[in-house]
Amino acid sequence: MKQINSLTGMADLIEDKSKPDELAIKVFHTEETLKKIFKSFAMSEIRTPALESTNLFKRSVGDTSDIVNKELYTFSDKNDKSITLRPEGTASVIRSIVEKKLDGETHKLWYMGPMWRYERPQKGRFRQFYQAGVEILGYPEGTSEFEMISLVCELNRKLLIKKPLIKINHLGDSETKKLFCDALVKYLTPMKSDLDEKDMQRLDSNPLRILDSKNPKTQEILNKAPSISEYLPNGAKELLRSIQELFSDKCEIEIDYNLVRGLDYYTGFVFEAISAELGAQDAYLGGGRYDNLCLQLGGKSLPAIGMAIGIERLALISNQKYKNNTLVSFIIISSNSESKAYKIAHELRSINNNIDIDVQLSQGSLKSKLRRANKDGASYAFIVGDEEIKSKTVVVKPLNDKDTEQSVMKLKEIQKFIENLS
Ligand code: HAM
Repeated sequence: MKQINSLTGMADLIEDKSKPDELAIKVFHTEETLKKIFKSFAMSEIRTPALESTNLFKRSVGDTSDIVNKELYTFSDKNDKSITLRPEGTASVIRSIVEKKLDGETHKLWYMGPMWRYERPQKGRFRQFYQAGVEILGYPEGTSEFEMISLVCELNRKLLIKKPLIKINHLGDSETKKLFCDALVKYLTPMKSDLDEKDMQRLDSNPLRILDSKNPKTQEILNKAPSISEYLPNGAKELLRSIQELFSDKCEIEIDYNLVRGLDYYTGFVFEAISAELGAQDAYLGGGRYDNLCLQLGGKSLPAIGMAIGIERLALISNQKYKNNTLVSFIIISSNSESKAYKIAHELRSINNNIDIDVQLSQGSLKSKLRRANKDGASYAFIVGDEEIKSKTVVVKPLNDKDTEQSVMKLKEIQKFIENLS
């Protein structure tokens, strides 16, 4: 029968302990590290459903964004309700906070999980990808901005990211945004015919996004365009400078007045972290302030700032070395009293949490099972046969140290032995 493959742009991540540099293992380790970092910032976990009403994303991420225009996985359910696989996490977090009437309080939240965008797959860009996100709710501008950049610097440090660059900008208030957009449109309109189709459309629907154009010709035209810096209030510029100064000993931070984000809900401070090692898709995280979203989704006025990390991209550039637990391969060579051997393994497992005990379930000779234990990177083989079960002993064979002979240990002795392994 013809085999069935996964959908385009949707990868399987399968852990193979013998290949620690493969993406799957790096992704899983990166997730563990990120969870520890979020906890060390006293954040609480929030988990929202993968499916939401389509309107949620239209009203938050925005009708003019590429994500909503072209990339949503939208279906009708059996009741003909339009539902969408979440393309990002922020909208769902605010939907949940409003729905649970928690929008009068402050929150520091983190989440992690798959997101879906119908994009053209390429290196670092998938249709199902994993994000870890953080949303700090209820604090006005000038407090949580620092906490956000502190978090970015900390994850760069813990994950040993080489030469990361954090770009920051400020989109001003609604007045700034309007004045700047008008000036940009006025400057670009006489050169409209030199823009490509996408940028021409943006000129009408969302002129700020033209600043993000990948077209070299547009970028050349933009060289002489008005800059948002000419319209920003002094407070916004000061905020950018003080963030840059405060963290300059920890991270390289650049003020980039052309930095705009692909989602419509941003209102003030925005940022992205990039790494040249990633190639064309170089942003491994991005975020910013979105003070109007809660109101827009039917809640109270709740100032907010957040970011999301592309876990695959972060994992690719992480140089953190992970130490696996000591692995013991538990080999049973008895067909009569197998169940008693399983019980021994069960009891040994509860002694030391830093030891992994892999009971080899396959049939086969001792030789083939030892070969398997070596391949899996086990440090010891514990061998139990009929004789051992009768005498309440286990044979312990060190696999990393060829000079040390195997020994026979009584169950009490082996408990001590396991306690002392690290
Ligand atoms: P975003 O910039 O759309 O922001 O996504 C954040 C990160 O997710 C990107 O920097 C990138 O690393 C990763 N990413 C996005 N699309 C893909 C893809 N197709 N394949 C692989 N990785 C991808 C947001 O999602 C906002 N919700 C961030 C935020 C939170 N703003 C405020 N709070």
